[in-house]
Amino acid sequence: MSNIKPKAPVLAGLDIGSTKVCFVIGTVNPDGKIDVAGVGTAPNTGIRQGVVVNIEATTESIRKAKEEAELMSGYTMSEVWVGVSGTHITSFDSKGMVAIKNKEVTNQDIERVIEAAKAVAVPADRNVLHVLPREYKVDGQDGITDPIGMSGVRLEASVHIVTGGYTALQNSIKCVEKAGLRVSGLVLNQLAASAAVLSEDEKNLGVCVVDMGGGTCDAVYFVNGSVAHTSIIPIGGHHFTHDVAVGLRTPQVAAEDLKKKYGCAMASMVNENETIEVEGVGGRKARLIPRKDLADVLEARAEETLNLIANDMRMSSLLPMMGSGLVLTGGASQLDGLVEMGEFIFDIPVRRGGPNKVGGLIDVVKSGEHAAAVGLLLYGLSQRKDLLLQSQQQTGEMINLGESFDGIAQKVKDFFGQIF
Ligand SMILES: Nc1ncnc2c1ncn2[C@@H]1O[C@H](COP(=O)(O)OP(=O)(O)OP(=O)(O)O)[C@@H](O)[C@H]1O
Ligand SMILES: [Mg+2]
Repeated sequence: MSNIKPKAPVLAGLDIGSTKVCFVIGTVNPDGKIDVAGVGTAPNTGIRQGVVVNIEATTESIRKAKEEAELMSGYTMSEVWVGVSGTHITSFDSKGMVAIKNKEVTNQDIERVIEAAKAVAVPADRNVLHVLPREYKVDGQDGITDPIGMSGVRLEASVHIVTGGYTALQNSIKCVEKAGLRVSGLVLNQLAASAAVLSEDEKNLGVCVVDMGGGTCDAVYFVNGSVAHTSIIPIGGHHFTHDVAVGLRTPQVAAEDLKKKYGCAMASMVNENETIEVEGVGGRKARLIPRKDLADVLEARAEETLNLIANDMRMSSLLPMMGSGLVLTGGASQLDGLVEMGEFIFDIPVRRGGPNKVGGLIDVVKSGEHAAAVGLLLYGLSQRKDLLLQSQQQTGEMINLGESFDGIAQKVKDFFGQIF
């Protein structure tokens, strides 16, 4: 075996958001974990509520983000896992049933039963993005998550199928390809974000993750460890900023700045005597206003947004199954006071989530707005078992390297032993 340390397997994730495009490059370390090696972000004006509205602008943003991440990491990427979102996404449940071939469930039986569950009429203008197994039944015994090796004659599967509008998906692919990249796979945005912020325990207990972006809030519900429902609420951080701009009569850029620096979703949490300077529009002079006025504007929008999410939860009838509550992620979830208001509205535990399962440049990606991009790396790795094998070879080779160093050390010792 050669003594050259093999290169770590590398993969990339691309989140095409309505505020920014984020390109993340990660390597797989010998423990099978991802180390973030490079991150590139570029503002994007070519996406509205998850859907491409300007191909040129989006392509340019992807190119910029890619170059930045490549420069930082030293890797050149040709393939990428891409996140998709938007109101064109729909999801529904389906079931499939097959006879178990050799009286014991094998991988092939699982593949066949998933194929059977997939056999539903999907309109020609929609593409299936994911077929997510919920649970299996072997001879009527339900609640099985991994039936491989079980004895029986009949295997049933309940799956959750996610589909997206054909043209919306094609436009996303077009932008990525125009930026010189191949698409490894399309992944539902909130599914990727949840991979980065959730623990297995939370998924098993039941949890809802909401990725609050600039244009949309993307929700995914987990029950017994698997996806039970997904939905998209067409409100995001841009609406908060717009309200501030209109309510305080200030330019959009200044409103965005005020929201991030001094914003709070609960006016009661703000000191009554605190004042902030607000830039005027059309050359008018800047003025001082109570910080509470800003919080009042944001509180109304935060309450509406969280109530829409609560409504969605009630409509899905999954609220009683959310044992570990709600996790808010995405850029807009960083607004102060949002978690406190959430606990009040939902009456279940609420927390803010950021990517916490990766190593490397963790300080760069620890905030919620990077959850989807980092999650794409984790999702990509879960689909590419060969990369895991490749990463384990590194250890093999490194042990070998270690042995050869020992060997060299012994030779040096022997050499000096002979001299002295
Ligand atoms: N500290 C903060 N407080 C409040 N809002 C914030 C803060 N930081 C970022 N935001 C808001 O988060 C939004 C951007 O979030 P994010 O980067 O997750 O969006 P995106 O992924 O580009 O959009 P989408 O997912 O909707 O396509 C912006 O509206 C921004 O104003
Ligand atoms: Mg997003």
